[in-house]
Amino acid sequence: MTGSEGYLGTVMAEVIAAAGHDVVGLDSGFFVGATLGPEPERPPLIRRDLRDVTGDDLTGFDAVFHLAALSNDPLGSLAPEVTYDINHRASTCLARLARDVGVRRFLYASTCSVYGAAETDEALDENARLAPVTPYAESKVRVEADLHDLADDDFEPVTLRNATAFGFSPRLRADIVLNDLVASAVLDGEIVVRSDGTPWRPLVHARDIAAAFLACLEAPRGAVHDRAFNVGMDSENRRVAEIAEVVEEAVPGCAVRITGDSGGDPRSYRVDFGCITRALPAFKPTWTTLDGALELAGAYRRYGLTCAALRDRFTRLAWLRRLQDEGRLTEDLRWR
Ligand SMILES: NC(=O)c1ccc[n+]([C@@H]2O[C@H](COP(=O)([O-])OP(=O)(O)OC[C@H]3O[C@@H](n4cnc5c(N)ncnc54)[C@H](O)[C@@H]3O)[C@@H](O)[C@H]2O)c1
Repeated sequence: MTGSEGYLGTVMAEVIAAAGHDVVGLDSGFFVGATLGPEPERPPLIRRDLRDVTGDDLTGFDAVFHLAALSNDPLGSLAPEVTYDINHRASTCLARLARDVGVRRFLYASTCSVYGAAETDEALDENARLAPVTPYAESKVRVEADLHDLADDDFEPVTLRNATAFGFSPRLRADIVLNDLVASAVLDGEIVVRSDGTPWRPLVHARDIAAAFLACLEAPRGAVHDRAFNVGMDSENRRVAEIAEVVEEAVPGCAVRITGDSGGDPRSYRVDFGCITRALPAFKPTWTTLDGALELAGAYRRYGLTCAALRDRFTRLAWLRRLQDEGRLTEDLRWR
């Protein structure tokens, strides 16, 4: 499991191991110093940059879960070439190496950001036009295409286009919408939406993403081979203003403030999640946005989240910049 030490990987490693599979992580460890609450249990780990992976690292595994990436749109836009190096070129190289050493199944963490700025309120299924608006999303589109080219009788790539995640993970990310809005509610008593609140943003809990990967791992080849699935729940397609209302319900007494700014983020998409539930009956997502908001509010209070930590420690871009400013990471995000 690449990216096993990140926000989703930490939760997913636990879920996949609990289902009886032996998990080995692979991660460069960018965020090991950014934990909220107790340190997570971690599976055996290969401490390696994705760009340096060799066939030996992958030999003997039944499946690769590929999560490692510069994981969001603003991060990708800061350093587009590094994003393409890691998220596209190294990812495709990983898949090719996996195929060459006989790994059968390759589960790829893509994103609903591939749908970009949709021009319709209709829910988009997996056949919708891909319209990435950032290097991050473009890199995901490129890997999806490369995986399709690599698919053959012995190599079964599966693409999971995850909705925007939410929920508690010890490697918290506060730069994703629900986690961010709950933090401002708990810390400031106010929920600030820095846009006009109208963009659609489908949401899915980190544990439900892990459940989708598990279902894809265990499914027969015919159900998943060379396919892309949107991962989320139809009921959790929400406009950002609605997400703020859910947070208000979870953290009573907060005021919602919608700034009306353009927000600088043109992404807006409603997504159809019917395909994955039809193809994989074992996948039953359960977490609503309200469940997640309550869980997050409880964890933030329990572990004493502060405004400073929120800004510096749990925002991916700020944390990586800090490691660079301290001379620990190079411009192209390699450890010194
Ligand atoms: N969180 C979301 O809302 C969301 C939604 C859709 C898709 N995804 C995708 O899921 C995956 C995981 O996302 P996340 O939220 O856990 O991100 P994250 O930033 O928390 O974790 C990414 C992990 O990858 C590792 N990593 C990054 N570059 C690496 C490199 N060059 N070599 C080795 N390891 C490297 C980091 O150290 C980190 O542990 C990403 O591919 C992301 O694009 C996430």
